[in-house]
Amino acid sequence: MAENRYTFGDNTRASARLRRLAEVYEPETRALLERCGVHAPALAVDLGCGPGWSTRLLRSVLAPVRTVGLEASERYAEEARKNVPEGDVIVCDVTRPPLPVENVEVFFCRFLLTHLRDLPRVLATWAAAAAPGAQLLVHETD
Ligand SMILES: C[S@@+](CC[C@H](N)C(=O)[O-])C[C@H]1O[C@@H](n2cnc3c(N)ncnc32)[C@H](O)[C@@H]1O
Repeated sequence: MAENRYTFGDNTRASARLRRLAEVYEPETRALLERCGVHAPALAVDLGCGPGWSTRLLRSVLAPVRTVGLEASERYAEEARKNVPEGDVIVCDVTRPPLPVENVEVFFCRFLLTHLRDLPRVLATWAAAAAPGAQLLVHETD
């Protein structure tokens, strides 16, 4: 399990809560993704993808050649594989270098940063996997 333990867990109730959140925030997230000006990047990565709702939206709006979700919870990763069958989902701790991806053109994270500690170190880990000119798109409420 990740050293930054996710507050709400990954049981059925927590997953249902994420589905509801995804429904409520879809218009805002979609607008953010549309604003970034990127279309069909070679690789887009959803950090802390949960059951895959944010990954599905990322894929639908940006149409990446390859979409990868990174997730600490095995259970959520299984759900994400079902919800985004066209993407790849890798179980890992996104705070630990190296990430299992490289040359990432678009990083996306929704509702993740507030759960992590030592953000400068975490951002350096992500930067090490970034392609030149990569974008980090962040959707947080806090
Ligand atoms: C609030 S949920 C958001 C899920 C998804 N991004 C969405 O918007 O539906 C945060 C997710 O980040 C994952 N997470 C938290 N810390 C993590 C870490 N260090 N590495 C990978 N995933 C992590 C949790 O397991 C959870 O699935």
